[in-house]
Amino acid sequence: MIGLTSQKPFEISYAREHSIFWRATEERLGNIAAFFRRLKPFHLADAPGGQAYTTADSAAMTRGKEVFAESCAACHSSKQPPPNIDAHSGEGKAWFRTAVMAPDFLENNFLSNDKRYPLTKIETNSARAFGTNAKVGHVWDNFSSLTYKELSPVDELEFFNPFDETHPIKFRPKDKNVAPGYYRTPSLVSLWSSAPFLHNNMLGIFTGDPSVAGRMNAFNDAVEKLLWPEKRLNKASIWRTQNECALHLRKEFVPKPLQGLAGKDGYINIGPIPKGAPINLIANAEPDFGQLVVLQARVAKALLKIHTQNLSSEQATDELVKTVPELIAANKCPDFVEDKGHYFGTDLPDNDKRALIEYLKTF
Ligand code: HEC
Repeated sequence: MIGLTSQKPFEISYAREHSIFWRATEERLGNIAAFFRRLKPFHLADAPGGQAYTTADSAAMTRGKEVFAESCAACHSSKQPPPNIDAHSGEGKAWFRTAVMAPDFLENNFLSNDKRYPLTKIETNSARAFGTNAKVGHVWDNFSSLTYKELSPVDELEFFNPFDETHPIKFRPKDKNVAPGYYRTPSLVSLWSSAPFLHNNMLGIFTGDPSVAGRMNAFNDAVEKLLWPEKRLNKASIWRTQNECALHLRKEFVPKPLQGLAGKDGYINIGPIPKGAPINLIANAEPDFGQLVVLQARVAKALLKIHTQNLSSEQATDELVKTVPELIAANKCPDFVEDKGHYFGTDLPDNDKRALIEYLKTF
């Protein structure tokens, strides 16, 4: 939570000069690239028993293509209208309606425009888009692009508040604390095989079953949740502690005023953290100096009280809940719901959604 030393970039030039392993790996990259270039989509219809899952209803398939053209293709296609037509405009949609009907539309189509979209538009869980490792001066600095580093931070966001459902948490990313807040459109190639969906794999069940039937169970569950958000776990997707627990920290790793709480073994127990506490309330905390002072005072007071008055678990919970507002203020990403966002196509009629799903199975 506090951090001891600041990050330094992993320097490619240094690795090249000093690491035989780096150079040996780099020498093989051409072969790896050649291997990747030969990979082709694998289609459900060609998988063992896969045809049983595809439709023979050609009217539904045609409708599915139209729906995809209008609601999805602007982002999920590498075949795009000419530069003078905006893919998201009415004219762009008309272009896609013709394009998707071409028998070779899916051939050599990466099914992504490879563009970045801000969290205000995509609305999926923001933790990874705010991750700082690829920023200037951080560990993966040398591996991220200039266009990424130059993105302007997204506007204010609103997050579900697990402690007070009527007052959403307003969050304005401060450039120095978090990354800019964008996700790039992923490819939908062989989508039938790769559920659960989204960058955090949190949309849909994980079957752990790599057979065609297992993948189709996962796909059907994920795609229904994608297009009918009311079927999602929603607030039940918040990661919470399953038991009452505590953080065990070496006393050297916490601020001075708290060090006195260490036991004989040199460890401090931060807790008890109550059962059902959102894990990211604590895991994403990175207080700045001012917040740290307030938080430290509050938490220290709560812990001291729990400690000295030997409070029961319920009383301890009450004490710690008082520190929640400070913990939220010090949170790098108080975004707790994991399976939200990407609401494109969710307002379509059910029949159109069903037709779209049939088309998605052919990717
Ligand atoms: C504005 C651009 C945009 C539009 C329009 C759009 N998507 Fe997406 N899509 C994205 C982005 C960005 C992501 C990545 C989101 C994430 O992982 O958090 C994504 C993710 C997905 C995923 C998850 C892929 C995976 O491998 O996990 C599926 C499936 C998907 N989109 C299908 C669709 C369908 C179907 C439509 C039309 C109804 C559609 N999208 C419309 C941008 C878009």
